[in-house]
Amino acid sequence: MTIHIGAAPGDIAETVLMPGDPYRAKWAAETFLSDIRQINAVRGMLGFTGTWNGHRVTIQGSGMGMPSLSIYANELIRDYNAQTLIRIGSCGGMQDHVGLRDIILAMTASTLTSPSSAIFRELNFAPCADWSLLNAAATAAKAKGTQTHIGGIYSSDTFYDERPDLNEQMVRHGVLGVEMEAAELYTLAARYNRRALAVLTVSDHLITGASLPAQERERSFADMVEIALNAAFP
Ligand code: HPA
Repeated sequence: MTIHIGAAPGDIAETVLMPGDPYRAKWAAETFLSDIRQINAVRGMLGFTGTWNGHRVTIQGSGMGMPSLSIYANELIRDYNAQTLIRIGSCGGMQDHVGLRDIILAMTASTLTSPSSAIFRELNFAPCADWSLLNAAATAAKAKGTQTHIGGIYSSDTFYDERPDLNEQMVRHGVLGVEMEAAELYTLAARYNRRALAVLTVSDHLITGASLPAQERERSFADMVEIALNAAFP
């Protein structure tokens, strides 16, 4: 057990999918995995371990934002020996050619600050995805026929943003979408020599103001989970 994860040693698989929402973790485990067992409920941040096509997989909620994700990813990596961590979540589209329901595979993630900023000080570290996961996810998305974009995203500390000028610069520099977790996940993976990727569904759009109705969110979420699982086990 760690401070935030109540699982016994060995309860957690080497491959971990991390949705922000713990109920999404439950839904994804019940929908895609066999022989599932709940391995965490501390603070309601549900986690499940099961098998997919014979491979052991854990799906553990990360909570929203980089400070929360940092807690779970640190404990998964350092205490439970997780090797492959794939964020599955939603993001806001930032380019005209990025539509609702499209998938974004985050090659890099820019930030203003992250829980790791303190150690980098004046250095602008460039958090990036693991190439083998990114490549396998791109192949899986293509095979599914899902509209997919691969490029840079922005990991923000705020959902309710007070810096329209910053978003304008992101758009101007080709950033595909905004979410709140990937940059710290990629940074931790780099620090501990693990593999990480963020597979994101566009659930709302910063330029058009459009957003997906709740039911459609579920369907797009399913595509994303399948792409993540196929990326982990190509
Ligand atoms: N901003 C930040 N995170 C998000 C958004 C957004 O617009 N949509 C989904 N996650």
